[in-house]
Amino acid sequence: MIKVGIIGAGHRGRQTYGTLMKKFGCQISGVCDTDPIKLAVAREEYNLDNEYLFENKEDFFKKLDKEQFCNALIIATPDKDHYETVMKALDYDLDILLEKPICQTKEEAINISKKAAGSKNVLMMCYVLRYAPFYRNLKEILDSGEIGDIMSIVHNENIGYYHFAHSFVRGNWGNEKRSSPLILQKSCHDMDILLYLTGSRPKSINSYGSLSYFKEARQPKGAADRCLDCKFKETCIYSAPKFYGNLPLSGWRLVVTEDKTELGLEKALREGPFGRCVWKCDNDVCDHQAISIDFENDISAVFNLSAFSNEIHRNIKIQGTKGEIIGDDLDGEIEVNLFGSDKKTIYKKVKVNGSHGGGDEELIKAFIAAIKGDKEAVKTGAQESIMSHLMCFASEVSRKENIRVNIKDYIEK
Ligand SMILES: NC(=O)c1ccc[n+]([C@@H]2O[C@H](COP(=O)([O-])OP(=O)(O)OC[C@H]3O[C@@H](n4cnc5c(N)ncnc54)[C@H](O)[C@@H]3O)[C@@H](O)[C@H]2O)c1
Repeated sequence: MIKVGIIGAGHRGRQTYGTLMKKFGCQISGVCDTDPIKLAVAREEYNLDNEYLFENKEDFFKKLDKEQFCNALIIATPDKDHYETVMKALDYDLDILLEKPICQTKEEAINISKKAAGSKNVLMMCYVLRYAPFYRNLKEILDSGEIGDIMSIVHNENIGYYHFAHSFVRGNWGNEKRSSPLILQKSCHDMDILLYLTGSRPKSINSYGSLSYFKEARQPKGAADRCLDCKFKETCIYSAPKFYGNLPLSGWRLVVTEDKTELGLEKALREGPFGRCVWKCDNDVCDHQAISIDFENDISAVFNLSAFSNEIHRNIKIQGTKGEIIGDDLDGEIEVNLFGSDKKTIYKKVKVNGSHGGGDEELIKAFIAAIKGDKEAVKTGAQESIMSHLMCFASEVSRKENIRVNIKDYIEK
């Protein structure tokens, strides 16, 4: 029996991974969260005795010193906590699933990779996209050689205006000091996907972008600082009562408050972060950013990250010497056009379960397979995941210092 501990029992740790681990026959045997409400929910959901509920990770690990109550661990705390927790967890006999971003600096990335290299256990990063059928299909087409050698890639991450407002303005990831730069928290996934598709490493990176829209200077005249008091609350596209009031009682609605009543929601919007005007928060992360990457195998890639889209999706164009590929993970379709022929192949969306295009579920299946001994199931181990983080750190150097960053020099320095 795989016995799982969870540190950080929120949206990802409990609602997503905990639920999936349980669905695939694992037992959730211990939960650590600083929020007593989350612990109370976990107690019910996993039928846990109080001795396996921990308000801090020190107590979690102390208990583990006395009793091996779990053999697998999910780390899904806020971004800034991952490094310290995983470095501690690597001292134990645990197979670990670690949320991204795995760390905050170049030095930390290298330390994790060194420590993990000496471990016999599984350390797997939650780069869910690598496990999603859409990206696996893209990779298969590229590897088949159908479009020849890849020359250029244009990749867009369209965050979705309402997702951006929820997570990156009002929510946990709006402020760099509390979380991390947008490119790291949101798009280390995309750097990883570019590494995966190109099969190469970056030579140099250039980036620019800023926070231009979600700031006080853009607040409409006469708007209130809280949506519930605002005269625009019926018409504003970012109106919190309209948005959260219409959500089902799961996911983001429970991020606002675990209280499922209308009164509970009103209280949370009156007092909590999610009821604030989007132009009057403490957010400072970019709302749009672009990166250009020159790969060692001469592929040039452009990545565009933007809050300003109607839907949450990624779309990609890959241009090869013999043909081109156009794909969108929203409808899951991949179109392949070969030059000099009328041949157009359209790969239709494959049926997937759950979020991230089925990536969450496939990731958990791979984690379980790896725990059972199939180490090949891990496509996102520490060594694979370090470069994507380094690309994000280098992008921030480029954006802030207005320079092109040579990756080899950057790593060596
Ligand atoms: N892989 C992906 O696609 C993906 C998607 C979304 C979020 N994430 C990442 O997952 C992580 C968790 O995000 P989330 O959406 O679940 O956030 P969340 O706020 O819903 O959950 C985090 C939980 O950690 C708890 N916590 C905070 N500090 C703690 C500490 N020191 N010890 C123990 N518990 C602590 C909080 O109370 C909360 O319950 C973040 O790092 C985020 O960037 C990854």
